[in-house]
Amino acid sequence: MEVMKVLHMNKGDGETSYANNSAVQGKIITTAKPVIEEAILGILCETFPESIGIADLGCSSGPNSLLVISEIIDIIHAKCRNLGRPSPEFRVSLNDLPGNDFNSIFESLPAFFKKQKQEKGIGFGRCYISGVAGSFYDRLFPDKSLHFVHSSSSLHWLSQAKTVATKKLKEKLVRFCGEIKIRKVPPALETNATPAALNKGKIYISKSSPQCVLDAYSLQFQNNFLIFLKSRAAEMVAGGRMVLSLMGRRSIDPTTEESCYQWELLAQALMSLVTERLIEEEKLDSFNAPYYAPCPEELKMAIQKEGSFIIDRLGHFEIDWDGGVEELTNTTLLPLSRGQRVAKTVRAVVESMFELHFGKAMMDLLFARYAEMVDDYLSKNRAKYINLVISIIKKDN
Ligand SMILES: C[S@@+](CC[C@H](N)C(=O)[O-])C[C@H]1O[C@@H](n2cnc3c(N)ncnc32)[C@H](O)[C@@H]1O
Repeated sequence: MEVMKVLHMNKGDGETSYANNSAVQGKIITTAKPVIEEAILGILCETFPESIGIADLGCSSGPNSLLVISEIIDIIHAKCRNLGRPSPEFRVSLNDLPGNDFNSIFESLPAFFKKQKQEKGIGFGRCYISGVAGSFYDRLFPDKSLHFVHSSSSLHWLSQAKTVATKKLKEKLVRFCGEIKIRKVPPALETNATPAALNKGKIYISKSSPQCVLDAYSLQFQNNFLIFLKSRAAEMVAGGRMVLSLMGRRSIDPTTEESCYQWELLAQALMSLVTERLIEEEKLDSFNAPYYAPCPEELKMAIQKEGSFIIDRLGHFEIDWDGGVEELTNTTLLPLSRGQRVAKTVRAVVESMFELHFGKAMMDLLFARYAEMVDDYLSKNRAKYINLVISIIKKDN
């Protein structure tokens, strides 16, 4: 499965849309704001560009896309006001995969600009916002054009669901394997078999997954993240900063519940449909979530290996699976059970991929089952996502 072609958040503003079901991701953005602020002020301490290049990678659509940009402009504007100097010109790029609902972002721009003009006197003529369709696992921007890069809730998506053992990749893996103390290349990769064939009844890493599945996922992440860093290194100015927040885990062990149990329950919901012969077992076995929740050491290792960035800050915070009830006052989600809210959040993100693989007709039933299973799990467990936040600085060349 090539993620570039199939992944997009649910479009529009309907009941199952990402726009209406992204409060959890919105809370992640707000929680990481102090790190964003520290990074931007760090840039402005060193240099005060007249025109500042900003990119949000994996912007999606809905309220969060412009929330980040508004926060960034606020921080820069407040600093300029303190210093008694005019705000720079803002060159803002919103990036996502080509299937993203860019139209709905563009449609909300007039209201966004009106608000910026009223509150800060910044409108067209000082702030240029464009959409950039493409994968962040590739070059997206001209050389040395960006001062600040942000990405939230996006980098845990891999570029593909299975790792294909090309000769070049195998050589890379052998080098990595030495470094992360895996004694040999994972058999899944050696034989060209997909991790799925070895991960029966599961759609992501699970307690029962063989070691080679864990290794294949980790190596795919390392490979993707290295390309990501290399691409941004070329696009950013020296002293430029990047704040990335993504799903992750605290432990080195990738099978802990905090990093994979949401997928475990989704696999159980799918399995219940297999038992009822509504989905073929083979369909379940051949689906691998193109997702990976890394630990801080994996981020550090890739950054050190790539070599263009200094780590300024690396931390984590917890987020409730349903984002926390306090966020939901005034939303239509409040009357729902916690399981139903979690299911709606997850559905808005994964439905495009699931629909393609398991069929559109199964979606309502699948996510209803999932909601019940999540409710049951939450009645006995304290379920939190772990969100890693890293702030890095581009070295002088
Ligand atoms: C869960 S959404 C997060 C959106 C937004 N940043 C937020 O916090 O609400 C993840 C986004 O990452 C995008 N994405 C995933 N892989 C990508 C890639 N390789 N290049 C660009 N965008 C990607 C998805 O299309 C999706 O819109």
